[in-house]
Amino acid sequence: MEKNVIYAALLGAGTVGSGVYKLAGMLSSEMVQKTGACLVIKKVLVRNLYKEREGIPQDVLTDNWNEILEDREIQLVIEVMGGVEPANTYITQAILAGKQVVTANKDLLAEHGQELLTLAENRGVDLQFEAAVAGAIPIIRPLKQSLSASMLTEIMGIVNGTTNYILTKMTEENMSYEEALRQATDLGYAEADPTADVEGYDAGRKVAIMASLAYNSGVVFSDVYTEGITRITADDVRYAKEFGYVIKLVGVAALSDGQIEARVHPMLIPAQHPLASVRDSFNAVFVHGEACDDAMFMGRGAGMMPTASAVMGDVIIIMRNILHDNCGWNGGVAYKKIPVKPIEETKSRFFVRLKVSDRPGALANIAGVLGNNDVSIAQVVQKPSKDGIAELVIITGSVLERHFNDAMVILKGMSVLKEICGEIRVYGE
Ligand code: NAP
Ligand code: HSE
Repeated sequence: MEKNVIYAALLGAGTVGSGVYKLAGMLSSEMVQKTGACLVIKKVLVRNLYKEREGIPQDVLTDNWNEILEDREIQLVIEVMGGVEPANTYITQAILAGKQVVTANKDLLAEHGQELLTLAENRGVDLQFEAAVAGAIPIIRPLKQSLSASMLTEIMGIVNGTTNYILTKMTEENMSYEEALRQATDLGYAEADPTADVEGYDAGRKVAIMASLAYNSGVVFSDVYTEGITRITADDVRYAKEFGYVIKLVGVAALSDGQIEARVHPMLIPAQHPLASVRDSFNAVFVHGEACDDAMFMGRGAGMMPTASAVMGDVIIIMRNILHDNCGWNGGVAYKKIPVKPIEETKSRFFVRLKVSDRPGALANIAGVLGNNDVSIAQVVQKPSKDGIAELVIITGSVLERHFNDAMVILKGMSVLKEICGEIRVYGE
């Protein structure tokens, strides 16, 4: 009997692409049992044909997309190049040509995910993207399928491995920000431009994707409020620890007042909360639903083999679908239009560090401004004064962001205030 073979093309042979090629090789002897067919990666698209690539034979490399698009034997395209273009054009053309697609590209999905899912559905083509959010952790399929009856109200996740690695090293080893970022880059966690990681854009893209799937309403990256970790200092980390918290970069997608909240920012998490123990490049996604209650998913969120594992999981599902003539049901196409709430209308608690003149009445003046703007003080600590300047560390109650911002603007204009050194949101109501 002739052996079933499914031919695929890999777009990209960087960190993830080389991992996918390697894992496909490691799984080759079991592929028939897992799927019913062998997988052959017939072509690998790269920019530079002359770069040394361990384990990938020179004769499969190409820098010509049309060679792949026009090859009718290639049924499956695995896109791990990154970036919006030309990935969007290539995936669109692949779908139009009836090729099934796997992608790990959150930049693209956070902008054009809904258009691509709609096109794939109309064309009866598979478009799978488990690796696009939180690396090896299965979260896309649970959001689309297993949790689709759960009436989700909140998703809170540590969804960027690079920043979690940096914050862990700063907290536990007093490592400098620069050194921790260098290590995260060497380990293959960081994006080609790590600004996307440290400024929260990468996590913001993942929040857009998760919010769209959880609430069945299209959310794009520009809807997501993003604030990164570049302003977090060693002092913030130390004071957070004193108050019993750990600082994490957290992505939130929640439903409140009939609107979607979509935001990424550093957050003080109580040391006993499950997210506080998520260290290094590990990611975790905590969900709450009216029906399912709480659930948490945790695992490696970045890196060569963890990401390749999610990509190859999608490949295996698509191979089965091809063989059973079952392609085209992707789920995830939005059927509602829920507005996204502006960040100023969301509520948070805040940790604020202020440098103030150490003179009688200073604390009362500050407390007065906060009180007049509906900002209640939950905890306050005054550090010993140095050169006539005292440091106040305040944790507020839950407050509308615009009220908090109004209070900060007034404080900045007061002569008693020397500096606002840190403002970080705090977990909880
Ligand atoms: P990478 O190391 O920078 O690799 C990108 C690869 O794509 C390179 O081989 C590059 O070719 C090729 N490429 C880029 N633009 C191309 C173009 N226009 N034409 C042909 N080839 C092109 O990136 P990566 O870290 O593997 O990430 C790939 C994707 O996976 C991105 O969407 C990323 O966001 C996503 N992802 C990454 C991780 C991770 O941990 N790294 C985790 C989850 C998802 P050359 O080698 O010739 O330059
Ligand atoms: N740069 C990303 C991270 C890769 O650090 O999480 C995984 O998406």
